Amino acid sequence: MLTPQFVFGVATASFQIEGSRDTRLPCIWDTFCAQPDTIADNSHGDIACDHVNLWQQDIEMIANLAVDAYRLSISWPRVLHQDGTVNKQGIGFYRDLLIALKARNIKTYVTLYHWDLPQHLEDHGGWQNRNTAYAFAAYADVVSKELTGLVDSYATLNEPFCSAYLGYEIGVHAPGIKSQQAGRQAAHHLLLAHGLAMQVLRKNCPTVEAGIVLNFSPSYPLTAADKTAAMLADQYHNQWYIKAVLEGQYPDLLSQLNENAQPVIAAGDMAIISQNIDFIGVNYYTRIHYRSTEDNWFAEASIANVPVTDMGWEVYPQGLTELLVSLNEQYQLPKVYVTENGAAMADHLYEGQVTDLERVSYYHTHLNAVHDAIQQGVDIQGYFAWSLMDNFEWAYGYEKRFGLVYIDYSNQQRILKESAKQYRNLLQQRKK
Ligand code: NOJ
Repeated sequence: MLTPQFVFGVATASFQIEGSRDTRLPCIWDTFCAQPDTIADNSHGDIACDHVNLWQQDIEMIANLAVDAYRLSISWPRVLHQDGTVNKQGIGFYRDLLIALKARNIKTYVTLYHWDLPQHLEDHGGWQNRNTAYAFAAYADVVSKELTGLVDSYATLNEPFCSAYLGYEIGVHAPGIKSQQAGRQAAHHLLLAHGLAMQVLRKNCPTVEAGIVLNFSPSYPLTAADKTAAMLADQYHNQWYIKAVLEGQYPDLLSQLNENAQPVIAAGDMAIISQNIDFIGVNYYTRIHYRSTEDNWFAEASIANVPVTDMGWEVYPQGLTELLVSLNEQYQLPKVYVTENGAAMADHLYEGQVTDLERVSYYHTHLNAVHDAIQQGVDIQGYFAWSLMDNFEWAYGYEKRFGLVYIDYSNQQRILKESAKQYRNLLQQRKK
């Protein structure tokens, strides 16, 4: 059953909503968006939801949803100048925001890195360069000192798999590099950055909980002959990160990789990566089927006749229960938050309303899936809907809408969708 302290929230990320590009340093996503054929609608994050200007209104909207918590991320290129000194205006923005949330009794869940790496670091190799992990720790040091008393929960990284694999291995995200070796090295340095930042957070704010947010796409074999492929995909995409963080080891798969395609791991790194965390954030959207390939690797396979979201992702709520229960069996888990879950749907604004019943149903079935996992013994203490509002969906630009709140980008109007109203009803009923 849900405990009384179970936290319900909504989530966003800096680059996806903030805009005001001119008041911060360039980041890798600015550069990526400026390249041809990277973003489906050729858009960028220069304005996005104009949240830097409309934040007060947005906080009213969050409060109006009756949530307990708001998960946001801090933009590294907004709070630090290139020489590492503090951008007073940038940090001031977050300070004001967090103070306003606290004044409304909304808990603050802050992610330090949600993919907007300062471009000047990428110019020196970005996450392929070990120094970036130390630069991240220095950034975490500044933020945790500047925001003392305003943060309830810190996550170091959001979805390092996406930063490493999508960004450096297959190049569909910034910085758009396509190299197996680069992807694996980036993954290791991201995990190292997590460990180094954990040490900083423990020192600067020992009473604030801290952890990491990982994404999981449970892997299923397409046919009985594809079991090994699904297992390899699971190790490479999912277990790689959680096993390193919780157990200080990479999955067995590492030793099977060609030596020249293995990441360089310095002595002591795995101990840094695997220190104690207070929570693990689980992001879940769908499951993925895999088939084996001729070179004994794995490839994604799609299955027909299943319900899908506007991303083409299968709607599979049982996958969330299965995932949480199996992680709980495999690992000594700290407490768990479902830090992201939600769906892009082809929303239509009609006479001032967005009647997104498919999204309502998605949330309903996935919240039941969380409930089932709790009943099966998983210590889940919170759930965050992705996302508070429609925003810049990375390589898909503004074409995909994940929000509980609809954004009319022509005038930046915010319109509560039916899903937002029903989420609010659920939370209000619970409070009675
Ligand atoms: C995970 C990412 O954290 C978030 O930024 C993204 O918008 C959602 N998935 C949906 O793809």
